[in-house]
Amino acid sequence: MDVPIVIADVVIVGAGLAGCAAARELQKRGKRVIVLTKLHPLRSHSGAAQGGVNAALSDDDDVELHMFDTVKGSDYLADQDAVELMCSKAPETIRWIEHMGAAFSRREDGRIAQRPFGGQSKPRACFAKDRTGLTLLQTIYEQADRVGVQFWDEWYVADILYQDGKAYGVVAYNLRDLQPTIFNAKAVMFATGGYARAFKINSNAHANTGDGLSIVARHGLPLEDMEFVQFHPSGLAGSGILISEAARGEGGKLYNSEGERFMEKYAPEKMELAPRDVVARAIMNEIREGRGVGPDKMAVYLDLTHLGEEKIMERLPELRDLAITFLGQDMVKEPIMITVTAHYSMGGIPVDIGGHVKRSPTELTEGLYAAGECACVSVHGANRLGANSLLEALFFGRHVGNTIADDLERGLELREAEPEEAETMVKEIDTILHSNGPERTAELRQELQDTMFENCGVFRTEESLKKQREILKELRQRFKRIRIDDKSKTFNTDLQEAIELGHMLDYAGFIVEGAIARKESRGAHYREDYPQRDDENFLKHTYAYMDREGNISIEYGDVVLGKFEPQERKY
Ligand code: FUM
Repeated sequence: MDVPIVIADVVIVGAGLAGCAAARELQKRGKRVIVLTKLHPLRSHSGAAQGGVNAALSDDDDVELHMFDTVKGSDYLADQDAVELMCSKAPETIRWIEHMGAAFSRREDGRIAQRPFGGQSKPRACFAKDRTGLTLLQTIYEQADRVGVQFWDEWYVADILYQDGKAYGVVAYNLRDLQPTIFNAKAVMFATGGYARAFKINSNAHANTGDGLSIVARHGLPLEDMEFVQFHPSGLAGSGILISEAARGEGGKLYNSEGERFMEKYAPEKMELAPRDVVARAIMNEIREGRGVGPDKMAVYLDLTHLGEEKIMERLPELRDLAITFLGQDMVKEPIMITVTAHYSMGGIPVDIGGHVKRSPTELTEGLYAAGECACVSVHGANRLGANSLLEALFFGRHVGNTIADDLERGLELREAEPEEAETMVKEIDTILHSNGPERTAELRQELQDTMFENCGVFRTEESLKKQREILKELRQRFKRIRIDDKSKTFNTDLQEAIELGHMLDYAGFIVEGAIARKESRGAHYREDYPQRDDENFLKHTYAYMDREGNISIEYGDVVLGKFEPQERKY
């Protein structure tokens, strides 16, 4: 087998905000970094975040309040040491990216403008109109490129080199010609984004297939808190494309088919700016009780007409455009139809506060790191506050880049890789290319997404989750009999989608098993058969492991508590 071996100090998988921020730090500290990405960096999903990035910047805000809101929003599952680190570094992070060229929207007096978001005590989200993620991504990519980071675009990473608790590279292939290649490095960092594509209606890019998570899990490493998937209250009806919380932050109101501003019933004090889990459940409840709108009655109205065209064009131009393009509805003139959409993954690859991947609740791997949405550090616990994800990706991306540089300087060694170590990936490709079974990727994926949304969505029960467990078992069997039409080696997206589906089936199992085991309701995980939070039994993190047959076992780890004692969280 002809498998070239490329050697670097660090290989980073994923070129969104976290990957680019880490790469820039490492390059500036003189390390040889390669960033592998299956897309062009500027197509990374960080660019789709619209509404803002949090920092306690204004005179009447402070870091402690930001910490409190984050911990309370997390339904007390967040690790408070990580929250403290992130929130205390947020103002500096904003200044850092601003000085590198990110053009934030401004107030009249020239200071950075900040808008309200759900669950926050103060207007705290710094923004660039409604293109905040894209603005940050363009800035950090440009700066990483400027210092000489090597980006290998359109490379698909399919495996890691990992033995005896140590990672020493990845196995990847070039999407252009299927050339397998080993990237042998002293350190490997995953920054591969989230996993909401397992659900029918989602706001995620097509690329968000959670590959990084199941690649790690296939080596027997745990995934943490996977049952916590955030459903954003406002996606465009039908498609689920994100309509930023900024729309409600700027004053948007929600109505049902009877013209009621229904949040009065669910969160009379916070109304549309209650945390996302509360608003999402309220919307789904209205829909379930028959007060939805639209052809299938699966949406509610978001009314922004009172803001007027000038403000909408100044603050929300992209959202207006999206609603016109995909729904034919102009928010300046009429309410638009929105529905809940799977949006964000609170769970992920467990890491300590420096980004080292854990091999159990109390042990670390060597040479393996993760940051951004694919990681669980855990600053979001059971429910993330809007505009904390861009902050997490930027701050922890940069922070973990520096951790890696420190570890390298302390003597992290290179373990040499052999060409044969590409075998698992090569076999996987070969099997899919030559399989001639009756099953098709698109059909299996659709069944996965439909049933995950139905049985493991905003509302869950023992019965629906166990049903989903059986469906997943069957889908995994059928996946073994998959057939793809394109047998070529040139930009074979048919092959890529089949490999990605394998990853989706793997990590969907973690979501379902974590949800079955967690017999309580906390944040985004709402069990109708256990509607209360149960701190006595479940104020703890889920760590789930997959064996070679795909069976998942669960253990639990401690939550890092701190100054904020768990209290009842109404909203
Ligand atoms: O609603 C939004 O603009 C999304 C932001 C976020 O998820 O942080």
